[in-house]
Amino acid sequence: MSSASSQDLIARLRDRSARLGVIGLGYVGLPLAVEFAKAGFQTVGFDVKDDKVRGIRDGDTFGSDVEPDELRRVTSSGHLTTTTDFGRLQELDSINICVPTPLRKTKDPDLSHVISAVEKIASRLQAGRLVVLESTTYPGTVEEVVRPLLEHSGLRAGDDFFLAFSPERVDPGNRQWTTANIPKVVGGVNQDSTAVAKVLYEQVVDTVVPVSSPGVAEMVKLLENTFRAVNIALVNEIALMSHELGVDVWEVIDAASTKPFGFMPFYPGPGLGGHCIPIDPYYLSWKARQTGFESQIIELAGHINSSMPRFVVDRVVEALSFAHKPLRDSRIHLFGVAYKPDVDDVRESPAIDIAQLLQRGGAVVSYSDPHVSSVVQGNVVLEAVEVEAALDGGFDCGVITTSHREFDYGLIVERAPLLVDTRNALKGQTGSHIHRL
Ligand SMILES: NC(=O)c1ccc[n+]([C@@H]2O[C@H](COP(=O)([O-])OP(=O)(O)OC[C@H]3O[C@@H](n4cnc5c(N)ncnc54)[C@H](O)[C@@H]3O)[C@@H](O)[C@H]2O)c1
Repeated sequence: MSSASSQDLIARLRDRSARLGVIGLGYVGLPLAVEFAKAGFQTVGFDVKDDKVRGIRDGDTFGSDVEPDELRRVTSSGHLTTTTDFGRLQELDSINICVPTPLRKTKDPDLSHVISAVEKIASRLQAGRLVVLESTTYPGTVEEVVRPLLEHSGLRAGDDFFLAFSPERVDPGNRQWTTANIPKVVGGVNQDSTAVAKVLYEQVVDTVVPVSSPGVAEMVKLLENTFRAVNIALVNEIALMSHELGVDVWEVIDAASTKPFGFMPFYPGPGLGGHCIPIDPYYLSWKARQTGFESQIIELAGHINSSMPRFVVDRVVEALSFAHKPLRDSRIHLFGVAYKPDVDDVRESPAIDIAQLLQRGGAVVSYSDPHVSSVVQGNVVLEAVEVEAALDGGFDCGVITTSHREFDYGLIVERAPLLVDTRNALKGQTGSHIHRL
């Protein structure tokens, strides 16, 4: 492709006349589509779910970090339209792919959503267009999977169209760091591709960080999330040791955090959750295995983190034993089932594993969560109960599994007979009925 055509798309991105598309309108894709629309681009959001597409049109943010007012503004102005009609891909100059990248049961990457989205683009691809993959995936996905599928169109990546990877770093529920102010890493299949993708993001993101290839950009994301998973495993193991040694792990972390260099606090908890940290490191270890490299740290971290729900259940059994009660037939109330505070996402949530283990031990489980009205996962089929109703109804032991800011912790401490706090949500509160992780 001549540099003139990259200049053409760059000019249309800068004057906002380029038409943009986002495939997959979830926690990642919807905020990105809204940012594009807010910047004045005609933006089309695609999803396979009809109810999602219609709901967004009606102002439903589906628990994402998008402000309802902003969503209504961009949909009523016509800057953002949503559709399940992938024929409309033909209208667009640039397409971002933000579909899920889960694991199969065997912990192998499941790229079926990415492949399906790319095939839909490939059959409608035209010269001069930009395609950016944002879904988290293993190094090599763009070059080995996405590029060949798109080139079935007869067009050549880097020559006839632009292709890049840009990892999504959004942190749902984080009000300080959002799509607009989290720096965006971009790696294209050639310099033109990186340059065009960089200009796309510069229209809506404060800082863009170009890297030399899609492989580097893919690996950046996996380093970041593996770093988190491994450090959480380390601090979880320190929590397990501290319990045996009779040391308060939370006090240890607070004091260690006063070191101004060389230490960064991570906190123990009931286990990993969400669509990223429990999953992404396995994308990396799977890909490394293809080359004969066995990652040891990733596997070990996964093992420690996935043992945490069992440890929480052991703490519940221990707390109950102080009250001369067995787990069997005890009523255990979970405070929070979302995988982290202030979100409605229950994917991979350790609270569900804890509920399952408690039920298996013969306990009767209930829960409160202001963000999650019901849970249906395996044998765990539960409806949320209001906190006050749960306290009025009584239970034998409460477990703080997610430290949502809406919970009235003073009330919970006052009225619960026994509490196991897995999140240090009761920091500073004392009482012989409080057991910390
Ligand atoms: N959620 C996060 O915090 C987060 C953060 C960074 C990166 N990521 C990555 O971003 C990607 C998307 O994650 P998410 O949390 O937004 O997922 P999500 O499940 O919230 O949203 C994905 C959306 O894509 C739609 N979809 C699935 N297949 C499709 C297809 N073939 N065509 C069109 N739409 C399709 C689904 O219906 C859904 O609405 C994943 O790779 C994830 O690892 C997520």
